Amino acid sequence: METYRMPTVVIMGRDCVIKSGGIFKKTGRKAAVVTGKTSGRLSGALDDVIRAMKDNDIGYMVIDNVDNNPGLDNVRETADIARKAGVDHIVGIGGGSALDSAKTAAVLCTNDITPIELYDGNIVNDPLPILAVPTTAGTGSEVTPYAILTVKEKGTKASYGDDRIFPKYAFLDYKYTGSMDRDVTVDTAADSFSHAFEGYISNRTTRMSRLFALESMKIFIDSFAALRDFSMTEKVREDLLYASMLSGTVISQTGTTALHAMGYALTYNMGIPHGRANGLLFSAYIDELDKENKEMLRELSVKLNIGDISVLSDVFRVLFPERIMIESDKIRKFAEDTLKQKSMKYTPAKLDSERIAGIFRSIVK
Ligand SMILES: [Fe+2]
Repeated sequence: METYRMPTVVIMGRDCVIKSGGIFKKTGRKAAVVTGKTSGRLSGALDDVIRAMKDNDIGYMVIDNVDNNPGLDNVRETADIARKAGVDHIVGIGGGSALDSAKTAAVLCTNDITPIELYDGNIVNDPLPILAVPTTAGTGSEVTPYAILTVKEKGTKASYGDDRIFPKYAFLDYKYTGSMDRDVTVDTAADSFSHAFEGYISNRTTRMSRLFALESMKIFIDSFAALRDFSMTEKVREDLLYASMLSGTVISQTGTTALHAMGYALTYNMGIPHGRANGLLFSAYIDELDKENKEMLRELSVKLNIGDISVLSDVFRVLFPERIMIESDKIRKFAEDTLKQKSMKYTPAKLDSERIAGIFRSIVK
């Protein structure tokens, strides 16, 4: 049996926020606009959302306290401000950190629980409605039922999921992604690609998720030269934002796999941005998967029209050539932490501690 769920209404195109007054009007009367310290303003998205609020007589407050890789204290603070103000819906603006904080605030405004209890499936009451405005093209959070937070108690980044935190509406305007520099553009594109790839090869893959995953991967491959040379046109930005949304719909069905589990160890322990962590590990991950999934990866390379799956490894080696310092005892610990992540069980390979450590070693100086 296969299911496909995607309750988020996706609205795409230049100025789609300003043109969607009717949607804002019917969603609520007072919004908490949750964003980071800079991304909402730099991208122009915050200005557009405020204009839409004013044009449609909707009360709003801006909560711009979201940290990079927000922890439980940070999301609790965001939610407390929104709850005290009595808002009736949440608008998230930004990358994954801001959108996941917005989702979490929506839950904590209606449920008397501490943030760590989100991980116990303790969400009783429906969250406030969530509107999502992504300013990066990578996370896909605007169309997923997940939020990923930094959890010191677990010693890693960890996701929780609930179908009721699917945003009600996602507004995709590529002009907001134009403020990303080269590193953020490439890192987030790698995150988007890894969602599509992992969803495609996952043990939970479905016919429909493969359809969207393939389309998303093709767009990334077509955009490779622009990413490598950072020669981004509006068309490429628009394509990558679309691909990122498609990848989000993929992982909403399948979740992620060992690559994300390994990436979280690098982000939590070494501060490496999420997409870059995945991008660095990608080539060695494909090589490891290829040992047990030759036929599946051969078929994928045919569908992507790239001749051989090693082309994908090469793409990631070009985009992420840097190597980093990791002490060998840390590699052991990262491998053990990776094995505890639930996405390991969706990985179509028997990756033990030694094989995972080998993937980490591939990026060491
Ligand atoms: Fe991701």
